[in-house]
Amino acid sequence: MSVANMGSGFDTFGLCLDRPADILEARPSERPRLRVDGDDSIPTDLRRNAASVAAKAFARELGVRWSVDLHLIKGCRGGSGIGSSGASAVAGAVAAAALLRADVQRPAVAAALLRSAFAGEAAGSGSAHLDNVAASLFGGFTIVESMHPQIVHRLPVPRGIRVVIGLPEYRLDTQRSRSVLPTHIPRRDAVENVAHAAAFIHGIMTGDVEAIGRNMVDRIAEPYRRRLVPGLDAAATAARRAGALGVALAGSGPSVVALTRVRRAPDVARALRRGFARGGVPAEALICRAGRGAQLLERT
Ligand code: HSE
Repeated sequence: MSVANMGSGFDTFGLCLDRPADILEARPSERPRLRVDGDDSIPTDLRRNAASVAAKAFARELGVRWSVDLHLIKGCRGGSGIGSSGASAVAGAVAAAALLRADVQRPAVAAALLRSAFAGEAAGSGSAHLDNVAASLFGGFTIVESMHPQIVHRLPVPRGIRVVIGLPEYRLDTQRSRSVLPTHIPRRDAVENVAHAAAFIHGIMTGDVEAIGRNMVDRIAEPYRRRLVPGLDAAATAARRAGALGVALAGSGPSVVALTRVRRAPDVARALRRGFARGGVPAEALICRAGRGAQLLERT
């Protein structure tokens, strides 16, 4: 999975997580088929599922008529804010590339992977963004420069940090979470966001983890989404008190992402759980590292 936005990079930044992860088993088959385990809400309709749409899109990119039998094992439920559909979409595209023996080191194939996963994400989440897809595909920290044409940059994540995710029990649909956003924002908020996003990137490039955390600040979306996320303020306050370097809504929510030094991670995880509980919301907390992106487990 992955975290989009990371505070100041609305629709632009993405951070890949090492867990939770989707697993997709794929084999060519005369009859296209899809089974999903781990989340009953994920569509099993081949035309609406992120993984199957992405796999088909990749075959089409190669000009191949081809069908596949897919078994998707979800590592995390949808509507959580940590890029569940983006992860499935990437899995579908990567599995198709492996089965079709495409050379993913070639820039043209990598671009086709990104386009196919993007198509899967659009079908799966109902709102097409590249931030989670880019992070899940390439791993590390990613910046979406442009969606049309698709231009993505990848930066390595500094060592010595953990990413703690507070995962409340309820779901929040991305479209619902976007519906509360204004079409215009005050100039001072735009300026503040640009400053934080630029300083965040500077922190990534210089390994200044304090600066990264300090600049997980969003004036574009989070202020408007706050009312959709019970427990957010209490969880964020508790995590900061427990030593988090920075806290933000994870993607479109309702999960919360906290960045912390390794030794503080257990305290921050406990604080996120307790904070959500204080807000009346049961939640779990996961301590993650930055992930390496989609991995091929076995090729048969
Ligand atoms: N960046 C998106 C949003 C979520 O905040 O609505 C992930 O694509």
